[in-house]
Amino acid sequence: MKASASTLFRGSRNFRTLGEWLNHAVALYDQHGLAVGQVASSPHDEALYLLLRTLDLPLESPASVLRRKLTPEQTDQIKDVLAKRILDRTPAAYLTREAFLGEYRFYVDERTIIPRSYFLEIIPGQLDDWLPKDLRPKRVVDVCTGSGCLAVLLAHHFPETKVDAIDLSADALAVAQINVEAHGLEDRLRLFESDVFDSVPRARYDVILSNPPYEPSAHVDAMPLEYHREPRMSLDGGKDGLVIIRKLLAQARERLQPHGIVMIEVGGLREAMDKEFAALDLHWLHTHDGADCVCVIHAQRLRAARI
Ligand SMILES: C[S@@+](CC[C@H](N)C(=O)[O-])C[C@H]1O[C@@H](n2cnc3c(N)ncnc32)[C@H](O)[C@@H]1O
Repeated sequence: MKASASTLFRGSRNFRTLGEWLNHAVALYDQHGLAVGQVASSPHDEALYLLLRTLDLPLESPASVLRRKLTPEQTDQIKDVLAKRILDRTPAAYLTREAFLGEYRFYVDERTIIPRSYFLEIIPGQLDDWLPKDLRPKRVVDVCTGSGCLAVLLAHHFPETKVDAIDLSADALAVAQINVEAHGLEDRLRLFESDVFDSVPRARYDVILSNPPYEPSAHVDAMPLEYHREPRMSLDGGKDGLVIIRKLLAQARERLQPHGIVMIEVGGLREAMDKEFAALDLHWLHTHDGADCVCVIHAQRLRAARI
């Protein structure tokens, strides 16, 4: 039987507090098999986030907020947002129109993928180790920028550096523009609509960074509904997932400074990458959860391998 809003909220008439609604929401996430992972790692954390945001309460509220009694209007707001999340499978970030990477907040909507990337860990923690000591990068680029989130992280990490950001989707770039302005980076961060580097004016970069679409098409077909709410071109890397990565690596050599590096996040493609690009001797960066799916390649290596 297909669920309706009335079946979702059966038995909720006596709920008075935010905590009761949170418990109910978590149970509904479970019953309806909702996929989390776009904004939080558990149904509890996502539902708490969604309810606090819906009621305009601070995300860092103390636990006592759960004892808060709700007004009838607040109860209606919660029912409304849970119906959209559960019945329409709208991702939480599209309902709240925001997503966080660490401390940084980004505007998002259905025109772009919801930010989630290991570069949140790698940019502040490891990127500098791969550049010549004391180098102040002049120019870096984020290829496949989506909401612009990683370009913005790069701009914050390198406060004097010019940052370019590329995406093939004009829709995604419209969202990126909102984020560039929200972070006050209009003077330093340029957006380009381009198929990888095809339409980007010639320039040599100290860092080429990319979190490209890398899922094999058949994987995307099998993903939970929430992921089908995101633009398919954000996820789909072609039959074997490698289509955009191949193009990026083929163009990277001509775009790098002699001391430059490429860093690419590749999801589950590590083995396929090691096989196809054995000549590049890829180095995989360690990340806290052991995913280790971001590789780094020096410009010299690209040149030596004639890629
Ligand atoms: C996985 S998303 C990453 C977005 C963002 N960097 C992030 O980490 O949230 C990949 C992005 O690549 C863009 N894209 C897909 N094909 C492209 C291409 N051929 N050239 C440039 N960008 C492309 C998509 O529009 C999407 O925004």
